[in-house]
Amino acid sequence: MAVEQTECAKRFARLCTDGYAQGWHEANGGNLTYRMTDADIEACRADFAPRGEWVKMGVQADNLRGAYFMTTGSGKFMRNVADYPAESTGIVEINDAGDAWRIVWGLEGGARPTSEFPTHFMNHSIRLDATNGENRVIYHAHCPNIITLSTLIEPDARTWTRILWQSMTECVIIFPQGVGLVPWMVPGGAAIARETAKLMERYDAVVWTQHGMFVSGNSFDAAFGMMHTIEKSAGLYLAARAANGGKAPEFTISDEQLLQVCRAFDVKANPAFLDGAE
Ligand code: 13P
Ligand code: ZN
Repeated sequence: MAVEQTECAKRFARLCTDGYAQGWHEANGGNLTYRMTDADIEACRADFAPRGEWVKMGVQADNLRGAYFMTTGSGKFMRNVADYPAESTGIVEINDAGDAWRIVWGLEGGARPTSEFPTHFMNHSIRLDATNGENRVIYHAHCPNIITLSTLIEPDARTWTRILWQSMTECVIIFPQGVGLVPWMVPGGAAIARETAKLMERYDAVVWTQHGMFVSGNSFDAAFGMMHTIEKSAGLYLAARAANGGKAPEFTISDEQLLQVCRAFDVKANPAFLDGAE
């Protein structure tokens, strides 16, 4: 089967199209990676043609030795992924040392994996362990409400998580651990990858202030839904604050109400962010 026709490639492209439609991917903004299953790899293997040198990432992970990732290309536009998958995306394999990649499909015309591949890679490594191998998707978007919120609110995980949980009732179900915050850093390398990965040990979603957000998910739906929910909640808070003359909205969801939601949906919210939780 041609790579483009596989289920994982179709779902990969659909997320890119959906994210673009949401307004999260101006120019080449944002990127996506997927850790392929053995069945995905077998479905694509006939099309694999390793080429080029192994490229060191500046980061290393034992649990991703020999893994295969579908990735967007650096400088490529999310809006083009569905129509031009072999130019806009590719598949890379990771070497036995777990510290370098090599292209086996796609990224035609001299393209390379996203410049954020080190962050994706480290996040995959951390989330793989945190979820017993279930996590497969890491997604980065330049979602506008998150970026705007980061110009108003200090980069503190508790403050941010409470604002987001308190603005829309089901947020606490979608991201019960809350969100982590990376204060402003230069994007695209090993340093920001390490800072982000540290937070991904505790959170499924990490905000890059004045830049956007990284989310993780066991499926494309889970990752997209996480991005969508957090971004929407940030937008609701901003709209309420603007409607309230710039002051924080007054009638938000209380801690006791959040705890009631957790009990009803059998969710364990991060106790550090909720007063009255065990
Ligand atoms: P890439 O085009 O290299 O994926 O970079 C886009 C981006 O959002 C960097 O943070
Ligand atoms: Zn970015």
